[in-house]
Amino acid sequence: MTGEILPIRSDSPHYVGALRLRYEVFVVEQAVPADIEVDELDEGAQHFVVLDGDEVVATMRIVPYGDALKVGRVAVRKDLRGTGLGRRLLEEAIRVAAAQGARALVLNAQVAAAPFYRKLGFVEEGPIFDEAGIPHTRMVRRMT
Ligand code: COA
Repeated sequence: MTGEILPIRSDSPHYVGALRLRYEVFVVEQAVPADIEVDELDEGAQHFVVLDGDEVVATMRIVPYGDALKVGRVAVRKDLRGTGLGRRLLEEAIRVAAAQGARALVLNAQVAAAPFYRKLGFVEEGPIFDEAGIPHTRMVRRMT
């Protein structure tokens, strides 16, 4: 595995692999309803994947959010967690946000994952709320 982060769109064959990994992580592992895992923002989003051969082992998506960018659907295959792939994905998001002149990067973090995002410069903003039965907190990383 090279660990290279590949930007793709939803017409890429690797998008199917990204959806497969997201299904495994969010729907099977975390019991998020399948009908909300893929939403209307997916088709136009910028997706990123890390491949092991042909298999997608890590993914995230970025969508426009006013003068900021919103990161979502961050998922690393279970057996590869803790090896730095999540960090590399978020570092790529930060690079993309800087290159596009975005004011900030925002995301809705699962509360359990907030320490991971804090390490990448995100800070919690506002109350904890429920999304798909999982407690979430809004987190922001200002770029300017
Ligand atoms: N709690 C506390 N610290 C965490 C953490 C967690 N849940 N997950 C990662 N970290 C820390 C690591 O220890 C590491 O710290 P270090 O740099 O001091 O060594 C740092 O964050 C980077 O870790 P990394 O190995 O890059 O994280 P990862 O590849 O395991 O990816 C997730 C993190 C959350 C994306 C991954 O665990 C995952 O896919 N989880 C399931 C899906 C999910 O919950 N996604 C988030 C939705 S908001």
